[in-house]
Amino acid sequence: MSHYIVEPVPGVSGAIRVPGDKSVSHRSLMLGSIADGVTEVSGFLESEDCLSTMKAMRALGVRIEQIGPQAVRVHGVGMRGLKPANHALDMGNSGTAMRLMTGLLSGQSFDSELIGDSSLMKRPMERAAKPLREMGAQIATLDGKPPVKITGGAKLKGIRYELPVASAQVKSAVLLAGLYANTPTTVIEPAITRDHTERMLLSFGCQVDAAHGEVSLTPPTQLKACTLEVPGDFSSAAFFMVAGSINPKKDAVLTITGVGINPTRTGLLDILALMGADLRVVNHRSAGAEPVADIEVRPAQLKGIHVPEHLVPLAIDEFPVLFVAASCAQGETIVTGAEELRVKESDRIAVMAEGLKAMGVTCEVLPDGIRIQGRPEAKVFSGGTVDSHGDHRIAMSFSVASLRAAAAIKILDVANVATSFPDFPGTAGSAGLNVTVHD
Ligand code: S3P
Repeated sequence: MSHYIVEPVPGVSGAIRVPGDKSVSHRSLMLGSIADGVTEVSGFLESEDCLSTMKAMRALGVRIEQIGPQAVRVHGVGMRGLKPANHALDMGNSGTAMRLMTGLLSGQSFDSELIGDSSLMKRPMERAAKPLREMGAQIATLDGKPPVKITGGAKLKGIRYELPVASAQVKSAVLLAGLYANTPTTVIEPAITRDHTERMLLSFGCQVDAAHGEVSLTPPTQLKACTLEVPGDFSSAAFFMVAGSINPKKDAVLTITGVGINPTRTGLLDILALMGADLRVVNHRSAGAEPVADIEVRPAQLKGIHVPEHLVPLAIDEFPVLFVAASCAQGETIVTGAEELRVKESDRIAVMAEGLKAMGVTCEVLPDGIRIQGRPEAKVFSGGTVDSHGDHRIAMSFSVASLRAAAAIKILDVANVATSFPDFPGTAGSAGLNVTVHD
């Protein structure tokens, strides 16, 4: 099992670029595959999660070419052109791939089965299966978990579905199935979640109306291939937003260029601003349907806050690294309303608390969040060994903690960093961190 050794360094500075957005990359392959014509995607994230989706779409008969670094060409087969795979589709570590594919495959004429790695095989799938069954899909899970078996040939009808949890994956699964329904589908969200599916469906010529927390899709006769540009992943940039904020190097500026700043993703900017961070979003532009900018980060003494619950879904993947920021803040930070963190790639509340405590941080686990006692000292973390439990975002978060550590941090079980951030040690190194990989 591979591990990182992360040595303390004087600080971070300079300009870096992070890889393409994971959510957008998955969706580009799925929608490109069922479009009519050739979809070209630039800035594509060649990470293990997105490659699982690529393999699955290929197994369903779609020709996908990797035409250059981060560039793919998807030869769409049309909405009715997918073919049955001759094996179970392995979605690896990716909850997004499995839930979205469950929606997409619900509308097909053939049977499919979805499996994944040991983490994914433990994650809840009924949240997607339930509304899809209401649409007429035939789906079986095993005690609510994968394998997900979909019986093809169902006639789907549009539904009006009120999401019980704020989940972009479930919303997207229902919308993808809705493409194949005989009447319009509406999803009502309890809180705003990422809207990449809606934006991309519009780019493919599909009618989607979103207003007041409701998204409605009118089933199209076809999707039209298009050209897509994937922005840098805000969730990957998040590690460096926190690194630049807790940076011991005074007056240093760390700039992250070409970051997607879709407002349904940028909750961390608001949370860090409330904590007193100095983050400047500059050079606004767009990558097709998605807004993009550069983010400049300067060191600041953060202060503890109670994170407003409405920001939780808008920062859902950023909590592990936010907990590192909170550990360096003056005073207590409280996170509540974040029980979803318990069913991510790991139980991110429990696993982060374990690692923080191992490095001397005082924190208390709550059923739906955490309470962290911040210490505004130069060396907040003792260093030592922490276990990421195979969760990519936890491994990267503890790498950032090295900026305020008294000694090296050994981070166990880091291979899954490749699911979202290929060459994280290289990018982190160009910012000034010292992350080495060991087997
Ligand atoms: C994602 C949605 C979120 C997020 C995940 C990616 C997506 O999951 O945590 O990393 O691409 O739709 P939930 O929908 O389960 O909140």
